[in-house]
Amino acid sequence: MSRVSRVDHIAYAVAQGMIEKWAWYHIEVEGGKLTKRVDDVRPDDPDSSMKLWCIDFESFGVVLVEGIDRKKKSQVTAFSDCHGDHSVQHIAFDTENLEQFVARAISRGVNLRGQQLVSNDGFGDLKQLFGKGYAKQNAAEMSFPEYVERPKQGTQMSTSVPQNTGKNFYQRIENARNSGDTSTLIDFSLMPSDWSPNSTQEASAPESTQPNKQKAPNHV
Ligand SMILES: [Fe+2]
Repeated sequence: MSRVSRVDHIAYAVAQGMIEKWAWYHIEVEGGKLTKRVDDVRPDDPDSSMKLWCIDFESFGVVLVEGIDRKKKSQVTAFSDCHGDHSVQHIAFDTENLEQFVARAISRGVNLRGQQLVSNDGFGDLKQLFGKGYAKQNAAEMSFPEYVERPKQGTQMSTSVPQNTGKNFYQRIENARNSGDTSTLIDFSLMPSDWSPNSTQEASAPESTQPNKQKAPNHV
């Protein structure tokens, strides 16, 4: 059973001066619609900030972030310097029930970056959580997953804790960068030593739904 249902949004870190150009590309070439434009998510921060534009494609969204360097180089500038213009900073996946998903993930050794937020990100209301970076590297330069839950049709999610999405994830990565926290998303020591894709499929799916039933050697 899949525990994430679809890609909710993809966040791209763009190089300095490129956010308008990439917005043009996603809107004029791909047909997206600009739903949120914040040209400075941290206007009072003397160190650094970022621009954040949200482009909606109905079934998923694109988020463009561009660093604003002040006393310090923005984490977004550091990311695009490291990986190139328009590089994937994070991909957000939709879940049916975020609390259940997270409880199970934590039991498997997944490390999250802070607590769950209730927010509005330019594509609508959502609950969201950020994972730590995929690899042990400066938090500003490492990509990470986000997990969200959108309100189901006909229900209204409470947004009584108003939080600014961009501001929050920026602050969390900034804290990790400043403290030298390079801890990673997943502790693979909790992965069973005898685990294989075949054994998982056999335990969770009827035989008729298994696409590759033939036993393959684990080392291929
Ligand atoms: Fe996001």
